[in-house]
Amino acid sequence: MKRTIAIYPGTFDPPTNGHLDLIQRGAKIFDELVVAILRNSEKVPLFTVDERLEMLRDCTRTWKNVRIESFEGLLVDYARSCGAQAVLRGIRAVSDYEYELQMAWMNRKLDPTLETVFMMPAGAYSYLSSRLVREIAALGGALGDLVPTSVESLLRARVGVARQSSK
Ligand code: PNS
Repeated sequence: MKRTIAIYPGTFDPPTNGHLDLIQRGAKIFDELVVAILRNSEKVPLFTVDERLEMLRDCTRTWKNVRIESFEGLLVDYARSCGAQAVLRGIRAVSDYEYELQMAWMNRKLDPTLETVFMMPAGAYSYLSSRLVREIAALGGALGDLVPTSVESLLRARVGVARQSSK
């Protein structure tokens, strides 16, 4: 029987409860969900790829059809190497739509057989982003309900270290 495999790509720096919400939703509708962290990002990350792999693996270990991996190069090439039929992306608000649509069209141009599937996270996460989480952590704000507790501890430790070294 044909298995439907989807890739959920992203930076996940750090993973948030919004990402986990989407992973859980994706895992319900696809036979296998590969959460794929981009390695060659233009962004300078707060956490290394290995740290993000570990964080995501730790938070998703109970979902048996979810795999956490990393990839380099074009998403369509990675998707093909996984035998994936779809790319999963989250849309929180209308403001996400333009960027996501552009990527989806470009990926379709590069590989017309690969479908992009958009899902919405729970409304409570519609304003949540890794960028805001990093900023709140750096300024000592409350992160409850925004990231898993394991990620919060790592974030506090990392931001604390960054603050000390910038003194
Ligand atoms: O979490 P992000 O930063 O919004 O994720 C962006 C990501 C990783 C999905 C995107 O940058 C990507 O797919 N990069 C891989 C390179 C690629 O295939 N580029 C062309 C995509 S249109």
